[in-house]
Amino acid sequence: MRIVRTVAEVRAAVAEARRDGRTVGLVPTMGAFHEGHLSLIRRARETTGLVVVSLFVNPTQFAPGEDLSTYPRDEARDAALAERSGADVLFAPEPAEVYPDGFATTVHVSGVTEVLCGAARGAHHFDGVATVVAKLFGMVAPDVAFFGQKDAQQVLVVRRLVRDLDMPVRIEACPIVREADGLAMSSRNVYLTDDDRRRATALNRALAAAERVVESGETGADAVLAAARAELAAAGVDPEYLELRDPDDLHEVDRIAPAALLAVAARVGAARLIDNRILKERR
Ligand code: PAF
Repeated sequence: MRIVRTVAEVRAAVAEARRDGRTVGLVPTMGAFHEGHLSLIRRARETTGLVVVSLFVNPTQFAPGEDLSTYPRDEARDAALAERSGADVLFAPEPAEVYPDGFATTVHVSGVTEVLCGAARGAHHFDGVATVVAKLFGMVAPDVAFFGQKDAQQVLVVRRLVRDLDMPVRIEACPIVREADGLAMSSRNVYLTDDDRRRATALNRALAAAERVVESGETGADAVLAAARAELAAAGVDPEYLELRDPDDLHEVDRIAPAALLAVAARVGAARLIDNRILKERR
């Protein structure tokens, strides 16, 4: 695996692969790899000829006061894990390579960014995500890009970006990877103390409780959300949001017909955690 830092170098690696007739896969990341990231890299390895993993802690998607300065960083560890999982190129640019002096463009996606994490973290968050993802697609020009379904809203934002700007890249969303006790893997789980770690499992239990209600034949949002809220309350977790939304455009739904995205975010100790599940009406 090669580690490259400039746009020119990553483009040269991609051009070489294209000359050999290989397709190009991109796994955009901010590093601090866990099994979730590695599952994306392995999926890219299975389906594309050149696997590029980008590692860039994107400052524009953090608000002042968020964890940009403390976000876990260990490039040597990440590089070893990426290589073992099948990456060909680790693209780890410096901030000035991505945002050179005079950088003046922001990509704003409307419609799916105003709610959930967009409301909780502010509009700058998805502007930062959309801008850096658009740039990464411009730099690498992948055929396929791989994103984790844990960030369900981010997947919808990226799909909308690609559709609206006619970007020739297929977006593949990969399943959420969980710890043995159900906690969704996240780079931010390292912020959890042992006690927080136990309480954090309530997010997955809340989603599971909601799913059981739907499996029993109940489709009304109030009953489904009440079941989820009770699990969070039992663990002393106060959600930032707990909402049922349409899985394609995120409009709020009052019943699961035929499917709905149940999304939750909560602060547990020093970590802001998110999780979600697609609930399907019983047939
Ligand atoms: O999901 C992430 O890690 C980031 O939001 C992404 C897509 C790499 C953009 O910085």
